[in-house]
Amino acid sequence: MSEPLEYDLTLFPDPVLRKRAEPVAVDEGLRELVRAMFRRMYASEGVGLAAPQVGLKQRVLVLNEHGEAERPEGELALINPEILAREGEPTVYEEGCLSFPGIYAEVTRPARCRVRYQDPDGNTHETEFEGFVARIVQHEYDHLEGVLLVDRMSAADKHQNRLALEELKARYAKKQAKAAAKR
Ligand code: NI
Repeated sequence: MSEPLEYDLTLFPDPVLRKRAEPVAVDEGLRELVRAMFRRMYASEGVGLAAPQVGLKQRVLVLNEHGEAERPEGELALINPEILAREGEPTVYEEGCLSFPGIYAEVTRPARCRVRYQDPDGNTHETEFEGFVARIVQHEYDHLEGVLLVDRMSAADKHQNRLALEELKARYAKKQAKAAAKR
């Protein structure tokens, strides 16, 4: 339980969050990454995490709709996922994102999605997700495409969250300046 957290969270507006992630090979290193991502996700009390959120341009996402390590039956790791179809009624839900601490916004997404992906053992699956899991998969898949919560927000939500967004930008600029001063 007290294993170290290998990865810090990458926060908006870090440019790595805007890059399209690249396909990965399924090997022992990948399985280690998946385990480390689950640890990071639980430590941050999230229900989903994509590799760009730990600074890696890799097509890997993990999720657990229960958000608890004690309920591993909800764990899913999707490697090289491809959304084949989005189906069903558009549904609205208030989403958060570990890369946008303190920010929440209503996002409309189709109720179901059909996804082809590899599991960490390299087996290929084609699965139709629905409900909360479909919501998480679509949110995390966005991360692999460089699409962020801020892009999916209504103008009203963007306005309502403007101070928090400005604060994140200021925090990032400060961090960059500090890093530059060290060089
Ligand atoms: Ni997110």
